Amino acid sequence: MSDVSRSSPAEARTAVVIPAAGRGVRLGPGAPKALRALNGTPMLIHAVRAMAASRAVSLVVVVAPPDGAGEVKSLLDAHALPERTDFLVVPGGDSRQESVRLGLDALPPEYDIVLVHDAARPLVPVDTVDAVIEAVREGAPAVVPALPLADTVKEVEPAATVGEPEPVVATPVRARLRAVQTPQGFDRATLIRAHETVTEDVTDDASMVEQLGLTVVVVPGHEEAFKVTRPLDLVLAEAVLARRRLNDGF
Ligand code: C5P
Repeated sequence: MSDVSRSSPAEARTAVVIPAAGRGVRLGPGAPKALRALNGTPMLIHAVRAMAASRAVSLVVVVAPPDGAGEVKSLLDAHALPERTDFLVVPGGDSRQESVRLGLDALPPEYDIVLVHDAARPLVPVDTVDAVIEAVREGAPAVVPALPLADTVKEVEPAATVGEPEPVVATPVRARLRAVQTPQGFDRATLIRAHETVTEDVTDDASMVEQLGLTVVVVPGHEEAFKVTRPLDLVLAEAVLARRRLNDGF
């Protein structure tokens, strides 16, 4: 168990923003991705529980689909969640970046550390959450959990038409690459400044902090923190839950 779980109330308080406003088009037709069920429980509820499992987290802000805040509030009310954690729901925006910003806007002033966690990563273990918080507490302005890559990665010149052969431009050295997950952890003021400063599209929050010229550090990620993106990921997520149930039974 990490030191994070034994923190005193005098230490920096931690809130989590969960962007959950995406449609999840790559998963196929149906409800917004975060509201789809894994073993009968919405993915978002799994993600909220994964964050609230950390004793260091005292507030979770869920960023709902723009027209779905009422539905998400009802969902949170209908599921058992830890009493020591507060929950807020706000409507999201057109892009992940905008949704995160709307979540940050809703944060009360007393939180000094902010984690941003994709609803689409419902199974991240609490030790990974605690490791991210610990690294921010130790002074890093931005922290990302990440894993080495199994595949070699090529940079290509994207073809104008899908399916056309694409010329390879470069092969980065695999040993220097990491696949980045969430939750990503931040000093609150740094993350807010990053969102105020960076206007072009990005795919994660840490890259906005990099653009401020600050150092982002990596801590070990976890294979169960994968992002549920395609239909096969749902099968994998349910298999992970089944394995956990089996292990908990012994
Ligand atoms: O699309 P992608 O898988 O990168 O989305 C990552 C996370 O961002 C998901 O949890 C999704 O719900 C969220 N998102 C959002 N608002 C959007 C688009 C995506 O909150 N407009």
